[in-house]
Amino acid sequence: MSKVKITETIIRDAHQSLIATRMTTEEMLPALEKMDKVGYHSIEAWGGATFDSCLRFLGEDPWQRLRVIRDKVKNTKLQMLFRGQNILGYRHYSDDVVAYFVQKSIANGIDILRIFDALNDPRNLKTAIDATRREGGHVQAAFSYTTGPGYTLEYYAKYAKQLEEMGADSICIKDMAGLLKPFDAYDLVKAIKGAVRLPVQLHTHYTAGLASMTLLKAVEAGVDVIDTAMSPLAMGTSQPPTETLVAALAGTPYDTGIDLGALDEITKHFTALREKYLASGQLDVKALKVDVNALLYQVPGGMLSNLMRQLADAGKSHLLGEVLNEVPRVRADVGFPPLVTPSSQIVGTQAVFNVIGGERYKMVTKEFRAMVRGEYGKTPMPIDPEVAAKIIGDEAPITCRPADKLAPELDALREKMAGYLEQEEDVLTYALFEQVAVKFFEERKKKLYGIDKNADAALGVHSV
Ligand code: CO
Repeated sequence: MSKVKITETIIRDAHQSLIATRMTTEEMLPALEKMDKVGYHSIEAWGGATFDSCLRFLGEDPWQRLRVIRDKVKNTKLQMLFRGQNILGYRHYSDDVVAYFVQKSIANGIDILRIFDALNDPRNLKTAIDATRREGGHVQAAFSYTTGPGYTLEYYAKYAKQLEEMGADSICIKDMAGLLKPFDAYDLVKAIKGAVRLPVQLHTHYTAGLASMTLLKAVEAGVDVIDTAMSPLAMGTSQPPTETLVAALAGTPYDTGIDLGALDEITKHFTALREKYLASGQLDVKALKVDVNALLYQVPGGMLSNLMRQLADAGKSHLLGEVLNEVPRVRADVGFPPLVTPSSQIVGTQAVFNVIGGERYKMVTKEFRAMVRGEYGKTPMPIDPEVAAKIIGDEAPITCRPADKLAPELDALREKMAGYLEQEEDVLTYALFEQVAVKFFEERKKKLYGIDKNADAALGVHSV
């Protein structure tokens, strides 16, 4: 038994989950030096939707945010979430873009990259893992946790072993939908610890109300690091509260070594922010409730609200029950992908089409067809051949690593955006979010040359 370590998520996943990633760098700043002194294993500070949100909604340069955080957090490791070949975007990027993004992330202050793929196709992690190792970063390879036939302890143990062989420094169980139950977590952690020699970390969400119990059982099973969020932005769709876990483990063989008293000022800082978010409506109390649907339908909370919105838009809200029954069938047809961005949207939208259309796969979305074609990688289980035939006919699906089909992109991108270049990293910003990046660059130009900044007050919604 050993001490349990903590990764603090309040400046990444917690606010991504509860307030659509709208915490600004300025709001974080006063707490950073105090957070650096806590004794966290790491602070999750970047990646996920933060990059997109900085550019699209906050008028901030995400790279500058990272440098500012690094400047204040001198001792604690900084961690980011990295979507494998999708980087921080929503499509596959060529290897040169992926490798360069990793290089610049580490050069600007990231220590640990948590790298995952929605389909758990290890080939989609390879370029990012290799680049992280080359740059001297810590590779935390993650797998997306889900349930369904085939998702046995052996499946996960085998995948973890494969990640270890690919060069991972640690393994993360990424339960993005909060589906992992306490006793299952115990068995899963035991199975992974038995299969690999690496530290194991658990990331879960409080959505279904299970997460604190799940972390506790994982701790009993020997998990090395757990993800928690400071209480003002904990629970609901976010992580369990840091202070609670620190207190629960204090004085036991799993003691985190963190002094509760030292957290107090940080709690106060973020409590004031919480009040502000509640008053402005950015923090909706609905995000804080226990979501039983996650347990009933095994769909992430964000996905359920998307389905409800799609049906309402079509004037078909009364079909929700049918759609919820169709989701697992569609998921089974395409090889039981974990439901996480982008697979959750792809499966969900197709289920809506199948129900509204009155016939399964009469209408097929572009993304669903791409998934059947293998363009997102290999699905965890085989795709139903009859469904495949109906959707792509006798066209042969891609069986290679999808990025093998992509030619290098960097040089062409650099040429296209040359007029906006103020720093090398801008090329990557442009590579990921072309139009949003250009809009941001235009605004920055105005600021740099003394013209009034026209703040973008547009509101949008991000899924976790
Ligand atoms: Co998460």
